[in-house]
Amino acid sequence: MIYRVEEHFLGHLSINLLGKGKYMSPRHFIDTQDFSKQELLDIIELTRLIKAADKQGCTPHLLKDASLAMIFEEPSTRTRVSFEVAMTELGGHALYLKPGEIHLGVRESMYDTAKVLSRMCDAIFARTLKHETITSLAAYAEVPVINGLTDYNHPTQAVCDVITMIEHVPAGKQLEDLRVAFIGDATNVLSSLMSVCTKMGMHFIHAAPQKYQAPAEWQAWALENCRVSGGSVLITDDPAAAVQDADFIYTDLWWWVGQEDQIPERRAAFMPTYQVNKELFAKAPAHCKFMHCLPASRGVEATDDVMDHPRSIIFDQSENRLHTEKGLLVYFIYHHLQHPSDELRAFHKGRIENFLNAVLRDSR
Ligand code: CP
Repeated sequence: MIYRVEEHFLGHLSINLLGKGKYMSPRHFIDTQDFSKQELLDIIELTRLIKAADKQGCTPHLLKDASLAMIFEEPSTRTRVSFEVAMTELGGHALYLKPGEIHLGVRESMYDTAKVLSRMCDAIFARTLKHETITSLAAYAEVPVINGLTDYNHPTQAVCDVITMIEHVPAGKQLEDLRVAFIGDATNVLSSLMSVCTKMGMHFIHAAPQKYQAPAEWQAWALENCRVSGGSVLITDDPAAAVQDADFIYTDLWWWVGQEDQIPERRAAFMPTYQVNKELFAKAPAHCKFMHCLPASRGVEATDDVMDHPRSIIFDQSENRLHTEKGLLVYFIYHHLQHPSDELRAFHKGRIENFLNAVLRDSR
């Protein structure tokens, strides 16, 4: 039984056998408020470069062999499919961990789960019922944590939405000229969209009945964003005034998971004034586009004639979730991967095969 350890490589390489070579202070994507305008523009430009490659059938395998743990406490179509396909097309792998499938704060502490996933995966994605759950995960994780929606915000959706707006920017306008009218409830999607739009220097209007308007705390950070960026934010209960100069009208569900008991009250508050129907859409400029993050309750917050209107861009938005997830995954993971040389790969393969040939063959 003879096998040779080639110290040539081991001698000058420091090989970390404890964990996957993780990082002490990874950058997380929990809230777009944690990012500057320039950083968000970098993510947007990276996404656009990767999308251009994808459209020519040559998405580079920038995350080859990387793994993403995807924790879902809530159902999802777009987020789940886009992250899983994005990892595959970038040469990596995603694990779908559905509600109840792993110990997350039940039978195992958040700390332990975060540490274990950090040892096995290169990043953690989570869609959690409570925002505190994802901030706890991020506090303990040694790999980047990406927020796939909480009860507070939905940052991956908002970055996607701004990319979609850039692709549909009206002739003669630039990003900072855009006016976005969000009609409806102060949802987690509104929170992130208001954050990104005001960071970008855009003009953001939220129209809703007073009880359902963006809370004062959100208005405060949005105003501060505008002070820095030159954008503006306005909260109103008048949807017609909100849409009159809008380049984009956006709406979202009027009630969310856990709010089913409020459906009669919410329906009465929003219907019919805040429904995006052809009458409200007609009050906007002729170039105005309609957006919805989906899923939608057709006939409730928006009617079919608007959802399926030639100026509806809801499916461009959906597709852009895939491209945006690629941009985000590469932005947060790429520099943490080891990118070993072919020579180093060949060295380890040879070393393991030497062992297999010398030891295990004899033992069979
Ligand atoms: N927009 C969005 O997040 O959709 P899913 O809930 O289907 O993921």
